[in-house]
Amino acid sequence: RLRIRFNTAVGVCTDESSNKNGKIEFIKENSENPLDDVKNFDPSLTYSDIAIIDYTHATHSSVFFLPGFVDTHIHASQYPNVGIFGNSTLLDWLQTYTFPLEASLQDLDMAQLVYERIVRRTLANGTTTAAYYTTIDAASTKLMGRICSELGQRALVGKVCMDACSPEYYVESTKESLRSCEEVLNFLQDELNDPKILPVLTPRFAPSCSRELMKGLAAESRSRGSLHIQTHLSENESEVDWVKSLFPECKSYTDVYDSCGLLHNKTILAHCIHLSDEEARTIQKRGSGISHCPISNTSITSGECRVRWLLDQGIDVGLGTDVSGGHTCSILACARQALLVSRHLAMKEKEEQNKERVKLTVAEALYLATLGGSRALDMGESLGSFEVGKQFDTQLVDVESQGSNVDVFPWQHSSLPAMKLTLHTPPLIAQENLLAKWFFNGDDRNVVRVWVGGKLSHTL
Ligand code: GUN
Ligand code: FE
Repeated sequence: RLRIRFNTAVGVCTDESSNKNGKIEFIKENSENPLDDVKNFDPSLTYSDIAIIDYTHATHSSVFFLPGFVDTHIHASQYPNVGIFGNSTLLDWLQTYTFPLEASLQDLDMAQLVYERIVRRTLANGTTTAAYYTTIDAASTKLMGRICSELGQRALVGKVCMDACSPEYYVESTKESLRSCEEVLNFLQDELNDPKILPVLTPRFAPSCSRELMKGLAAESRSRGSLHIQTHLSENESEVDWVKSLFPECKSYTDVYDSCGLLHNKTILAHCIHLSDEEARTIQKRGSGISHCPISNTSITSGECRVRWLLDQGIDVGLGTDVSGGHTCSILACARQALLVSRHLAMKEKEEQNKERVKLTVAEALYLATLGGSRALDMGESLGSFEVGKQFDTQLVDVESQGSNVDVFPWQHSSLPAMKLTLHTPPLIAQENLLAKWFFNGDDRNVVRVWVGGKLSHTL
């Protein structure tokens, strides 16, 4: 459900020595004087302690704050290939486009160029948290951690692990993979010293990992107090068949991961298109989250993920751009695609009474893009919506910013009084229409400012 707060004052702590730094301290709806609200909240504050960011002058109602987007699945290393996938499907796409590019990022100058660009681009699109895959290379993965920290994006950074069925120019031994993973973990946890940057263990997918590697990574996650884990699951039918032949002792693709101890509440599984009922039950029982990547799934023709079916079972679902299986860094674009893919599922739905149910609404797609993604990453307690105690990870959206692709015409600035009336009464309905216009036509030109943990990270 969409919640809109009008005339609201939000207090955020920006004291770096405080454990409340970056968090929302209070929210006051229908505020008449935000400055007084701050003073009343904490009388010990003086005016010089307070910075007011005032958007009350935005009298036309097309400016609003929205929780920052959460990208639950994105390959930073594949950014140079966005838009380039031809007619390929997953397994030939990996061999033709993806592995050669990832291998080339061993060059640190190249990695710097690519990683800096993608972090800036995702921030500009309103993404405040991203779960990144890099490559098998430890040095450039550490560089990625540093870049995210410096540019002020919250990130999970994962060195890709692969010791099987991979090209000889892009593979590690089991031992080397675990060692280089350890090196990255030590750097991100002990050296970088930025609470916004977290490590994520990243067995690429079952075909490129030995059982020994997957078990080793599961043990690493446990021994460091439940580290995040990310991987791909059930994306493409040929891939599912391949996994069956590689792991004949397992009941299913999901069971491969489960039997290695990889599934827990900090595990994020990308795609999950061709799951059986039993596999979904296992994921639900383990509390793992799912990253729905609708643009990638259509682009490399993997299939249509049944999001309503997953949500109905109480599984946390978020959105992933899956660059460069997906052709854009924009989570807003993915939210649109999630809505449209749900329409395709509705058109194919045999049971008349289910046709409406499988459709995702604008509000639900925005939920997946924000709080849903936070929950899928097991960070729903601290991210994804405006609540006291949560991080102020926020985008300021102006539907009618300079050069915006969104035309609110003819209502918004029309001199026709009747038209104005339909827009402004009742206000909530008007706001929802405005939001829908932005949802379907908006882009990075509408993202005016982005804050991560109360700190300004992007300005249009
Ligand atoms: N499965 C294994 N590796 C990849 C990858 O890089 N992208 C996608 N979409 N699926 C994968
Ligand atoms: Fe992927």
